[in-house]
Amino acid sequence: MNIKKIEEALRGVMHPVKEKDIISLEMVEDIKIEEGKIRFKLVFPSPDALSSSIKKSCEKTLKDAFPAEDFKVSIMELVRERKIKKRVTVELGQEALENVGHIIAVASGKGGVGKSTVAVNLAIALAKAGYRVGLTDADVYGPSIPMMTDTEDYQPTVDESSGKQMIIPKEKYGVKWMSIGYFSKPDQPLIWRGPMASNALKQMILQVKWGELDFLLVDLPPGTGDIHISLVQDIPLSGAIVVSTPQPVALTDVEKGINMFRSKDINKPVLGLVENMSWFTPAELPENKYYIFGKEGCKKMAKKFNVPLLGQIPLIQSIREGGDDGKPIALKERADGHSFHELAAKLSQSF
Ligand SMILES: Nc1ncnc2c1ncn2[C@@H]1O[C@H](COP(=O)(O)OP(=O)(O)OP(=O)(O)O)[C@@H](O)[C@H]1O
Ligand SMILES: [Mg+2]
Repeated sequence: MNIKKIEEALRGVMHPVKEKDIISLEMVEDIKIEEGKIRFKLVFPSPDALSSSIKKSCEKTLKDAFPAEDFKVSIMELVRERKIKKRVTVELGQEALENVGHIIAVASGKGGVGKSTVAVNLAIALAKAGYRVGLTDADVYGPSIPMMTDTEDYQPTVDESSGKQMIIPKEKYGVKWMSIGYFSKPDQPLIWRGPMASNALKQMILQVKWGELDFLLVDLPPGTGDIHISLVQDIPLSGAIVVSTPQPVALTDVEKGINMFRSKDINKPVLGLVENMSWFTPAELPENKYYIFGKEGCKKMAKKFNVPLLGQIPLIQSIREGGDDGKPIALKERADGHSFHELAAKLSQSF
């Protein structure tokens, strides 16, 4: 008997109404084996009339799975309500954000470090955890969300019921997506001048019918230029997460990113760092880790700036494929070697 086997066994316990197993529903936490007992937490997103029957079913399933062993089962049941603790305060012209809980910028100093990959997978992982999530692609020069979510064909419509023209976002994988890419053809590069880009970007946030959301993620373009400063000043951000690879050249830019958010003019909290491409793991050797871009660079950076390291995402082929095929890896469970679900859990705990 070991934790992995216990987890496997608990996959056999279904939530009778949600018609999914309790592991996929991420209801099981902190499995431990100690003093002849299997202990774990059973987390319900809201008070659940079926909790005692699910508990009984856990006990029976474990007894059946390990018939030769002598043990007791101790389950701590808890309700962790999914609710918006703090709403953003909106100003005139920001009505689209009225029912949005937290707006979080996903930023990076350097380009190509996997910011969009992290943003898309984080959005899906949060949605799978039961949150209402939107993601806007603020990369007006190189929007990549349509391809990463296989929504390139989406042609946005406009709702005028409020007297204002509001763009309807695309709903897929449990997330509301918006991208300037929906307004252009993939073979036509977007050429914008500063203020135009900045306005287009704000429209992608302020003129979208988001409805009620717990989290709105904003996938920023790389860098720390004027467009960023103008955006983060005009949008009521709760904070930012900064994505980087562990290599020194990327980390120098992280420093610039953190300093931008912490500057007097912007003054928005950096909620944490996400280290991407932390190590390479080949599919055929899932236990092996090769630290191609150096080891734990972001951990040191997080310590230096006193911000949490929210997650470390390995470099694995299926993450790249998920992006290119429009089926992000976070649609799958943790077993695939990625850690976007842990990242989502950590981020949601920061509020
Ligand atoms: N952990 C990972 N494992 C494998 N491939 C990855 C990983 N993270 C990102 N990639 C791949 O690296 C490429 C760049 O990622 P992505 O587009 O997310 O970066 P970005 O920081 O958003 O780039 P840009 O600065 O151009 O906006 C993509 O092809 C993506 O699929
Ligand atoms: Mg990107």
